[in-house]
Amino acid sequence: MTANNIVWHDASVTKEERREKNKYQSYVLWFTGLSGSGKSTLANALARYLYESNIQAYVLDGDNIRHGLNKDLGFTDDDRKENIRRIGEVSKLFVDSGQIVLTAFISPFREDRQQVKDILSDNEFFEVYVKCSLDECEVRDPKGLYKKARNNEIKHFTGIDSPYEEPVNPAITVDTESQDIEASVKQIVNFLLEKGLIQ
Ligand code: PPS
Repeated sequence: MTANNIVWHDASVTKEERREKNKYQSYVLWFTGLSGSGKSTLANALARYLYESNIQAYVLDGDNIRHGLNKDLGFTDDDRKENIRRIGEVSKLFVDSGQIVLTAFISPFREDRQQVKDILSDNEFFEVYVKCSLDECEVRDPKGLYKKARNNEIKHFTGIDSPYEEPVNPAITVDTESQDIEASVKQIVNFLLEKGLIQ
């Protein structure tokens, strides 16, 4: 619900002007996948590559955002929904400010990812499916969370007792089980070049 008596103010510098000055488009690359699939590692590796190419991209990461903006949220379905809704709004602000945003959230529900897409314009949202089987994520278990979830020490853990809905038609699928981070970054960079999203 929106409060009463509030008025939208147009910005003096537009998104288009910012893009023109930056010499690149602004958009969201929305990384989604299981815990341990490599979302954050990949988003950060890509941000480094773009930075070295004089393109600013900012990573919004699930673990980090939950330390601040979303510290009041847990992992029930409703909390995850609210988590993604807020990140969608934050991403939209970044896009409006002329930035490329790389988001690394499990974002397990299709409907929530679609809602983020819906608040952005065409060519401002690209879903990147970071594909890795549950078996492999459990073997990696970088934070020991799968082990805890299997021991019932964590409830609502994605893939164990909370669902993950795979993307139906992602812009890109990177298979982190069969290829290393470098190859996945290259795959995404090639996609961005082909689409004219970077030069
Ligand atoms: S979500 O589903 O999009 O709201 O989750 P997200 O904000 O990306 O946070 C996922 C990180 O939180 C840690 N963690 C859990 N993940 C899934 N389920 C449960 N119950 C849980 N509890 C803590 C975990 O470190 C996730 O980080 P990643 O980077 O995905 O491994």
